[in-house]
Amino acid sequence: TMKGLKDYYQNYFPIGVAIEPGDLRHKEKADLICREFNSLTPENAMKMSTIHPLQHTYRWEQADAIVSFARQHQLKVRGHTLCWHLQTPDWMFEDKQGNKVGRDTLLQRLHDHIKAVVGRYKGQVYAWDVVNEAVADGKEFLRPSKWLEIIGEDYIAKAFQWAHEADPDAVLFYNDYNEISPVKAEKILQLLTKLKSQNVPVHGVGLQSHWAINEPGREQLDSTLARFARLGLAMQITELDISAYSKEHQARERTKNDSIALFTPEKQLKQSLQYKMCFEMFRKYRQYITGVTFWNLSDQHSWLDDFPVKGRKDFPLLFDTTLKRKEAYYGVVNW
Ligand code: G3I
Repeated sequence: TMKGLKDYYQNYFPIGVAIEPGDLRHKEKADLICREFNSLTPENAMKMSTIHPLQHTYRWEQADAIVSFARQHQLKVRGHTLCWHLQTPDWMFEDKQGNKVGRDTLLQRLHDHIKAVVGRYKGQVYAWDVVNEAVADGKEFLRPSKWLEIIGEDYIAKAFQWAHEADPDAVLFYNDYNEISPVKAEKILQLLTKLKSQNVPVHGVGLQSHWAINEPGREQLDSTLARFARLGLAMQITELDISAYSKEHQARERTKNDSIALFTPEKQLKQSLQYKMCFEMFRKYRQYITGVTFWNLSDQHSWLDDFPVKGRKDFPLLFDTTLKRKEAYYGVVNW
């Protein structure tokens, strides 16, 4: 059989991909996933609004489908995510009259959610993004959110404690983006240092790694990974993609036609070199990095098709819109 990404990296770290259950029902995509990857992250299927849409209703079908596919094909599963400011249903923060709930009620609800979800997949989901994106991009330390407003900053520690109680073997991550910004990185490091000093069961830091063809640069990535490595926690690249648009043009390069012509040979080459550099760095930090996951399978569908410009096609992954290996793929495997 044909060698895939996971085989090239078998002495380094698992290679994962974020997927929807529909990808697994699509024969060609399912085959591609099994050929190239050995870890899955549900892109949306385990988020609160999907899995716990009403207080007394859990909808397990989508997450179950992913976990059972993974079991059948011997893939790992990273759970994503237990506590986030987005994709959280309104009922979580409201009582029956629609008034804001108090701290104790919200803590109880968060506890029940984590216990139910982590408990259901105990032994099947090996790692969890317990808290996602709690650090602010602006001048504040923590991101203003209903969790912070109603509970206070200990919602983070509590979430980790409850996840640990529900599955003591699961590796528990704090996951965030803009990790290559020194200011944001500093805040993430501060948060994790504090949690560790309080003996909170946090085992790893997830660096989302939504990058661009010209950012980060080699030195910037090297120093970022070095800083996070010093924490003494596991480190995973959890949501990797490299936008075909350069950083300073990300918002401006808008077009009416989402033509594939946009993805010029020049851009393809730049992207391939950027992927090559990133994986050189990941290999350099192999002692610390315990997983690298791509955020989506192929350029057929990426969350970046709607961000930062709605409806603007992007080409951020290793497989093209027909699921074929791109030049970027060879940047990752030829070294
Ligand atoms: O399911 C509905 C569908 O019924 C409806 O017709 C359609 C109309 O817009 O929306 C669908 O829901 C969308 C959902 O994805 C499923 O496709 C939501 O609008 C859309 O907002 C949602 O986007 C997800 C986004 O998180 C939400 O913030 C993306 O798929 C997902 O890739 C993205 O993932 C996040 C990570 O969880 C955390 N880090 C950043 C990353 C990228 O934003």
